[in-house]
This record gives sequence, structure tokens and C-alpha cells, in this order.
Amino acid sequence: MELAVGGGMRRSASHTSLSESDDFELTRLLSKPRINVERQRSFDDRSLSDVSHSGGYGRGGFDGMYSPGGGLRSLVGTPASSALHSFEPHPIVGDAWEALRRSLVFFRGQPLGTVAAVDHASEEVLNYDQVFVRDFVPSALAFLMNGEPDIVKNFLLKTLLLQGWEKKVDRFKLGEGAMPASFKVMHDAKKGVETLHADFGESAIGRVAPVDSGFWWIILLRAYTKTTGDLTLAETPECQKGMRLILSLCLSEGFDTLPTLLCADGCCMIDRRMGVYGYPIEIQALFFMALRCALQMLKHDNEGKEFVEKIATRLHALSYHMRSYFWLDFQQLNDIYRYKTEEYSHTAVNKFNVIPDSIPDWLFDFMPCQGGFFIGNVSPARMDFRWFALGNMIAILSSLATPEQSAAIMDLIEERWEELIGEMPLKICYPAIENHEWRIVTGCDPKNTRWSYHNGGSWPVLLWLLTAACIKTGRPQIARRAIDLAERRLLKDGWPEYYDGKLGRYVGKQARKFQTWSIAGYLVAKMMLEDPSHLGMISLEEDKAMLKPVLKRSASWTN
Ligand code: GLC
Repeated sequence: MELAVGGGMRRSASHTSLSESDDFELTRLLSKPRINVERQRSFDDRSLSDVSHSGGYGRGGFDGMYSPGGGLRSLVGTPASSALHSFEPHPIVGDAWEALRRSLVFFRGQPLGTVAAVDHASEEVLNYDQVFVRDFVPSALAFLMNGEPDIVKNFLLKTLLLQGWEKKVDRFKLGEGAMPASFKVMHDAKKGVETLHADFGESAIGRVAPVDSGFWWIILLRAYTKTTGDLTLAETPECQKGMRLILSLCLSEGFDTLPTLLCADGCCMIDRRMGVYGYPIEIQALFFMALRCALQMLKHDNEGKEFVEKIATRLHALSYHMRSYFWLDFQQLNDIYRYKTEEYSHTAVNKFNVIPDSIPDWLFDFMPCQGGFFIGNVSPARMDFRWFALGNMIAILSSLATPEQSAAIMDLIEERWEELIGEMPLKICYPAIENHEWRIVTGCDPKNTRWSYHNGGSWPVLLWLLTAACIKTGRPQIARRAIDLAERRLLKDGWPEYYDGKLGRYVGKQARKFQTWSIAGYLVAKMMLEDPSHLGMISLEEDKAMLKPVLKRSASWTN
């Protein structure tokens, strides 16, 4: 049964069809001026202190870093960016563009997204024929960099309509703001209609909640706005409401004593049981970045004002918490090693009562004298000391990491190249869990055996994040080295989803071929390195108003 709701959207419990009036609304939005350079305003450097006394977009606004390539149309397989540069593109770039275009999904004649994989050889399709929100991000960035923003706009608008559905898992109704993990275009040949079918976790293996989808949506809306200079999309009541709904889900008051966001296992890129529950770094970093992006785009009108204030307060607390308690370097590790336990009251140094015996052996050798990273998780008596690539890269890009911390993360990558990059960039996490721990933590997951898939596998898609972080920290040579490695294998191996083994030498046991985000990730990395000004669409400058915590050392710590 379909229920008509405000704004021309229709809701349905299991799937929906977009009505003519929806399409009219969308057409209206799509036909608004695409590029509006005049309206570009600088907002990157807007600090939290501006929030309380600025109206509309305030003194801020989108800064005018206008990505070259914007506005250019590309021919199939001909990236606009390569036309802007004199040097010859790598021979696999053309193949990559063709493969990326083959993954395009059309809805009522318009490109709407890219499927997760176009792997005809694979027997099991599962849901790889769907458009995943998180997987579409590198595709979207590639299209934006190549001067093709319309597909991104269409994606942002259609996913907004999906957010408007009533979402249920069995008899349980999900939060209004939830964004889907993925969606699919269904063709009814008899009736000659196309409808969308979305998955909010109710069909996903393990019924996992895609907490990251809403954050990626906000981050992508900013990337679109920043690249095109078209503020009109973010300003629409639909987009403003979409942002507010996502934010309501994560800014509501509860019993929490921490500013981090509490999540269930499998809520992000690692969407299986992997001990990534509680306060995982990937979600905290995306949460932080989405809050900062929303702050730049939310109107300070009656409805938006309350959110703007909440965001500002949360960002202060979140950055302090993350920079203090998630951060680990040699000195901090030594400090934790000597922690006293069972400390009561405000004066406690070991606030979460972490037992030093819980520090895993591998960490003592892994930690270089110079370098550091945000660990995987922090909660009572628990520090997950594993390294997770996505969270750390997003921490750099969002400036959750201070410039010193960002530099230290890059130092760690250089120092531990073999472990984290090996023969194929980039390890999703390090190290793998095995034996008894694997049984307990994954529930004996045969897909996540040691050094495979989410359990220490190497994911080419992460290359774009590494490249962006390298450019931001002024170390493009690291990205070049990683891209060189990827170029030796990716096309030859058929753009696998992931690689297995300690060094990432083997094509993943169950890896899809022609995995779209491996292809798009490579292209984005390439284009960003060729033209570093693209970085602005996915990077935020440091907000000086956020306090840098001084790490407290235990009294007994000596050098
Ligand atoms: C796997 C990955 C997930 C990705 C999906 C589609 O489930 O774990 O991160 O979004 O495949 O590629």
C-alpha cells in the first residue's frame, strides 16, 4: 500500500515507485542553474565561533576553489582532466573510464548511480548489482572531477526520496532519517515502468544498519556544491530537511556519557561482524566530517538554527574526545602500558579503566618512535588497538586530526609500509584477527578469515583516500608510490574488490571482479594527484576554534 505524504513523495513499506509529481519536483530541481559561480562564498575557514552570530550561511559560504574540469563534458573513455594536462595518461586510465561507465545505472532515462560490481563471471550476484551509497562516493567524485555533476545531483535527489519511505525490519520501524545502504532500479517490462527498490538493512546479510550512508550523503552534497558552485541544491527545502533528519538521528539526547556515536556491529564499510561495534573510528570520523559539512550548508532559519547550535557543541566535545582518547603514539602507548587501574573520580588518568594487560603484543613492535594513529575503538575497559585505514584517512581529511596528528599518521604509513601497503594498497585494518579470537569476534566467519576481506584484506578503493590524505599533508610522493603499485596489478587482475594475504599479493578469495569502487577509487586518486586542487571537494581546513587537548601523562611516567 502506498501512502501519499508531504512534498509529493510516496511511502511504501517494502518498495516504492516515484510518482509523476515526484518526477516533476525532481525535474524542477534538476533544471535549476547547474553552476552558479557568483554565489560561491568561502566557508571552509568558518570557525565554530562564527556560528552563534551569523545568519543565513553567515560570513562563511563555499570557498571559491573551483575544480578545474568542472563544466567540461567528457566523451566516453576520455576524461576531461587529462585534456587539461600535457602529460600522457597511464594506459589503464581509458580502460578504467570505460569500466566505470559500464557500471552506470539509469532511471527513467537519467544516470542515477553506479552498481557495486559488473562481474559477469561471478555466479552469485547477491546485492552487487545494486547502487550502494558508500560505493557511489568515489564514482561521484570521479564524475565531479570530470565535469559531470548531473549524475551526482540526480543521485542526491533520488536517495532523498528513498529516505522519505517508511522503513521497517519485520515489525520494527526505523528512524525517519535513515538513508539506504543500497538501492536498485526494477523494470516492469509488462507495465513499462521503472521503480526503485531500496535496502535499509532489512534485506542485507546480517540485517546490518548502514550508519555511514547518511554521513556520506551529506559529505557528497558538500562535494557537489563545492565543485559546481551551485548552492541552490543544498538550499532546497528538500535537502535542508534531509540533512536535518539525518542529524536528528545522531544528535538526539540519550544516556550517553561520551560524545562519540554508539553503533552496532557491521554499520559501515565493514558490514559484517568484525568487532567493529561500540564507538568505531570509521563512524566517528565520518560523523565528525558530516557534522562539519552540514554546518557549512544548513540554513540558520527557524528549523536549522537549533541544529547548527547542537552541531557546534557536539563538534567541540567530539574533537576533544577523539584527539585525547583515540590517539595513540609511542609516548601514549608507553603511558597506557604503565597505567594504574581502578581509579575513581575526576582525577583519574586512566579514565576508561583500561587494563594494561589488554594491550596486544604486536602493538609494541608495530608502534614506531615517530608516528601515531587513531585506534579502532574506545569504551569502558576496552581499547581496540587495531589500525583502520578509512577512519584515519577521514580524520585527516576532515581535520579531526590536528596537523601534528595528520603528519604522524603519514609517518606511520611510511614507517610501516610493508604492513599497511605491502604489494597492494591499502589494508582495510591491521592486523588480522585469527584463531580463538577470530572465532569469538567474527562468529567463525569463513569470509573474514585472517588477512582476507574485512579481516586484514587490502582494498584498492582506499587508494583515493590515501591519495587525498597524502596531498593534504604535503606528501604526494607516498601516493605516487602506492598508485604505481596498484597500476601494476589492477587492470591485469580485472579490478578486484580486495586482495588477500599479509602483503596483499593474492586476488581475494571471494573478491568480485570489475568492482566499481576499485575502478573509481583509482581514477579519483589519479586525477587528484594530477590536479591537487580537486582536494578541496573532499577536505576541510582545520578549525582553529577547536581546542587541542594536551594529553595527560600519568605522574609516574618518565622519559
Ligand atoms: C561489501 C562491502 C561493503 C560494500 C559492498 C558493496 O558488502 O563490505 O563495504 O559496500 O560490498 O560493494
